[in-house]
Amino acid sequence: MHEDIESVLFTESEIVAGIDRVAASVTEAYRGRDFTVVSVLKGACIFSSDLIRRIPIPLELAFVSASSYGDGTEAGELKLNFLPTNQEIEGRNLLLVDDILDTGNTLNRLSAALAERGAAEVSTCVFLDKPARRQVDFEADFRCFEVEDLFVVGYGLDYAGRYRNLPFVGALHQAALATS
Ligand code: IMP
Ligand code: MG
Repeated sequence: MHEDIESVLFTESEIVAGIDRVAASVTEAYRGRDFTVVSVLKGACIFSSDLIRRIPIPLELAFVSASSYGDGTEAGELKLNFLPTNQEIEGRNLLLVDDILDTGNTLNRLSAALAERGAAEVSTCVFLDKPARRQVDFEADFRCFEVEDLFVVGYGLDYAGRYRNLPFVGALHQAALATS
């Protein structure tokens, strides 16, 4: 285990099992319908690339980027960096995929932005859900795991840009949170 990690919350094999379960639900929900997976950069790149390889029906892939002002563990105001092209949005069924649903601000804002630009439908899928932290009334349509109110890293999730490459999800030592 990485020296900055205090405990592992989800191991690699638990993650595989969680993704298999959600991929099966997504497959059933979209069978017979065209849809586009819209991966929220950067955190969802690992989850979405594993997820789509377990969905055996036709889909397209697009990316969106949003960032909250301010680094670290507190979410700030959201800035939309880029969206898919109009052609990728208009009239399409979109499945927004993010690493974690925390306050809900990111997915709430992104869903509204895509709907405003003419998406036929916007649904959401998250790797982790932290309901204790919600600030807006927003729930994901699909989720792999619920987590308690704890800052987690790995499998795409970062702290100040680091730890995205860990193959498991873990909690950081207080010392690592303080010094990074
Ligand atoms: P929300 O807008 O508050 O729902 O937060 C969404 C974003 O905050 C996620 O896409 C993550 O980048 C970040 N975030 C929230 N909680 C955590 C965490 O525990 N670890 C790492 N990043 C987090
Ligand atoms: Mg992040």
